[in-house]
Amino acid sequence: MTILVTGGAGFIGSNFVLDWLSSSDEPVVTLDALTYAGNLENLASLAGDARHIFVKGDICDGALVAKLLAEHQPRALLHFAAESHVDRSISGPGAFMRTNIEGTYTLLEAARAYWSELGEADKAAFRFHHVSTDEVYGSLGADDAPFAETKTYEPNSPYSASKAASDHLVRAWHHTYGLPVLTTNCSNNYGPLHFPEKLIPLMIVNALAGKALPIYGDGKNVRDWLYVTDHASAIRAVLAGGRLGETYNIGGWNEMTNLDIVHTVCALLDELRPDAGGSYKRLITYVKDRPGHDRRYAIDARKIERELGWRPAETFATGIRKTVQWYLDHPEWVARVQSGAYRDWVAQQYTA
Ligand code: NAD
Ligand code: TYD
Repeated sequence: MTILVTGGAGFIGSNFVLDWLSSSDEPVVTLDALTYAGNLENLASLAGDARHIFVKGDICDGALVAKLLAEHQPRALLHFAAESHVDRSISGPGAFMRTNIEGTYTLLEAARAYWSELGEADKAAFRFHHVSTDEVYGSLGADDAPFAETKTYEPNSPYSASKAASDHLVRAWHHTYGLPVLTTNCSNNYGPLHFPEKLIPLMIVNALAGKALPIYGDGKNVRDWLYVTDHASAIRAVLAGGRLGETYNIGGWNEMTNLDIVHTVCALLDELRPDAGGSYKRLITYVKDRPGHDRRYAIDARKIERELGWRPAETFATGIRKTVQWYLDHPEWVARVQSGAYRDWVAQQYTA
């Protein structure tokens, strides 16, 4: 048996692939276009591992996806590939429409063609697992109930609108064609290998470089934060036991304001890498708010717990300590990402 993973060189996808192969010998084929967010170095520990095949390619390339499905006969396709950064979606929405909508459509069609030709047992076992976000549900007020799976979709950014569109396509391919799909909508992830354009890694690397820690607006926006390997374990649980056509919300039961997040990061850095200039909090700088900035996300993760017995293993205290420590222990990864040298990894490592 084999699984096909899209976007496996990105933050969550690479953590998922590493986590998968640390606990299973089932091979993984990773398909990733290696955009700016894809870093093959994230998978460097798998170099020479016969259980892992990396293919550089675009999910919008239907012929390539069909070829990979025919060649490797995966029992599941796990779809992580996306343009994922809200700020980039505001300055340039086109790539989000292409990858997140057209790319998902292309994968669905290729998967449908492959699945429909499988024998009965393989057909029944096949899964198309779509990895999505809580941002499709829109923004909550301070007293609103957390997002349940029944919450109406109210996406507010080009990113969340494109992910919402992809969720609808996945739903429709199940409803219309019977494709055996699963969708998970997860809250904000954090952990190792996170590209330093997102809040937590940006704050860590900026603080260590003595740069400003930019807080959008008043810093009171709330997100739910989930340690990335908890996301991986939740996906495994849904893949193994999720009901076809259902969506499962995944969250960390951990709502925090951005300001509290940044204070926590600064306090950990003050402890682990004290700076002669004083607390890293001195670097906090309030900047112009993000246009259309969603105020609050919160996840009601009771369905996945009730049906599949999943709960996060990490608390925020344990997860953020591991995360900060990981960045302190990997200055060369950070340096290569910041200098752009991580892109040379492709030339060095990728020969197909
Ligand atoms: P990321 O931006 O770190 O990685 C995305 C990966 O997809 C990169 O390796 C990139 O090269 C690849 N990719 C982009 N366009 C591609 C294309 N056209 N063809 C093939 N590969 C392509 O993203 P991430 O944070 O790892 O997120 C992974 C998934 O999880 C996304 O679908 C995202 O919407 C979802 N998600 C993310 C979060 C979060 O907090 N990061 C939370 C919930 C859901
Ligand atoms: P981000 O990591 O971009 O995730 P998302 O927008 O998908 O939730 O941002 C998390 C929160 O942090 C969000 O409310 C925006 C805020 N933020 C800042 O205040 N400063 C920053 O430099 C960044 C990147 C984000």
